Amino acid sequence: MTSFTVNNNPVQYRMDPQTPLLWALRDGSNLTGTKYGCGNGQCGACTVDIDGAAVLACQVPIGAIEGSFVTTIEGLSRERDHPVQLAFIAGNVPQCGFCIPGMIMAAAVLIKKNRNPSEDDIRAGITNLCRCGVYPRIIDAVLAAAGVQRGDGE
Ligand code: FES
Repeated sequence: MTSFTVNNNPVQYRMDPQTPLLWALRDGSNLTGTKYGCGNGQCGACTVDIDGAAVLACQVPIGAIEGSFVTTIEGLSRERDHPVQLAFIAGNVPQCGFCIPGMIMAAAVLIKKNRNPSEDDIRAGITNLCRCGVYPRIIDAVLAAAGVQRGDGE
């Protein structure tokens, strides 16, 4: 049995400890916002926050994160939507939308660590793939979200 916290809820999985976190979340907890894209660590669709770091859930065996705190796209919002979510909505960022949960998780971690990222910081920090190619809108939205998080214009 493997125990850790997902979106502030304690969870226990009776799965092989080598099971990728992605499948524990999707099949064990019905948290299907975390997407299966490539399954081999290349696309970023499965990005979640583990103890404050953006991590590819398809690459992490659940046995390796005993006691950790995991946040998925479903847990990112608390009382209100996260600034990154609001910026993605305001900027009409998604096209097909498949990469967006992972993209938002990567962006949320990035602006938590770097309150004033440059465009280059965003390109370097968010390497998730978007097959629709909406990268310019993503960068604009992350810049806007960082500004909101800093309190610019308030
Ligand atoms: Fe995990 Fe693509 S599904 S990186």
